[in-house]
Amino acid sequence: MYYETATNDHGLPHDPLKALIAPRPIGWISSLDAEGIPNLAPYSFFNLLATNPAIVGFSSASKKDSQRNIEVTGDFVCNFASVDLIDSVNATAKHVAAHVNEFELAGLTQSESRLVKAPRVAEARAHLECRYIKTVELPHEEDSEMVWSLVLGRVLAVHIDDAYVRDGLVDTLAMEPLTRMGYLDYGVLGGVLSRERP
Ligand SMILES: Cc1cc2nc3c(=O)[nH]c(=O)nc-3n(C[C@H](O)[C@H](O)[C@H](O)COP(=O)(O)O)c2cc1C
Repeated sequence: MYYETATNDHGLPHDPLKALIAPRPIGWISSLDAEGIPNLAPYSFFNLLATNPAIVGFSSASKKDSQRNIEVTGDFVCNFASVDLIDSVNATAKHVAAHVNEFELAGLTQSESRLVKAPRVAEARAHLECRYIKTVELPHEEDSEMVWSLVLGRVLAVHIDDAYVRDGLVDTLAMEPLTRMGYLDYGVLGGVLSRERP
């Protein structure tokens, strides 16, 4: 099949694009609002964008609580979403009022960060403590109902559960990252292939 995005005339019941850019990592973003109420939500338009300095980014479809909090407080944490936490991850995507603490909603434990104010998900196997850099509004049509923004943060500190560091390497497969595919689908990693660089 072939279609053009100006008209999105794919003829399918759902937009197929997200099913093609898959699996996507999930940034499970925790932040605090101005009153100090914690917020937690998954973002799969998320990635590590650079190292030295390490920079992560996620895109928000309109200004949601995470983006608003991060712009006000200046920091956030990316918590590692693993397969065993799928229902907690999903629960924290619920559209709820800004003052609702999604840690409580999903029965998760908050733990303090070292360099940032935003709390960490204690159940997560790794965490990136991040300082907000800036928000980049993504290009859109003038009459567009939805404006996307890319929120960038510098990774200040990294926590990794030592159980997953083996022979000096992080065993990502053992950490069982939960990934996002299209529609209602999540993915699990099926294996690892290694090659020497040419
Ligand atoms: C796995 C998953 C990934 C998601 N990724 C995104 C995303 O990249 N961008 C986005 O705007 N919403 C995304 N959502 C929806 C948000 O998580 C949802 O709108 C949430 O309520 C936002 O919470 P917040 O307002 O507390 O930031 C995703 C939902 C799920 C379940």
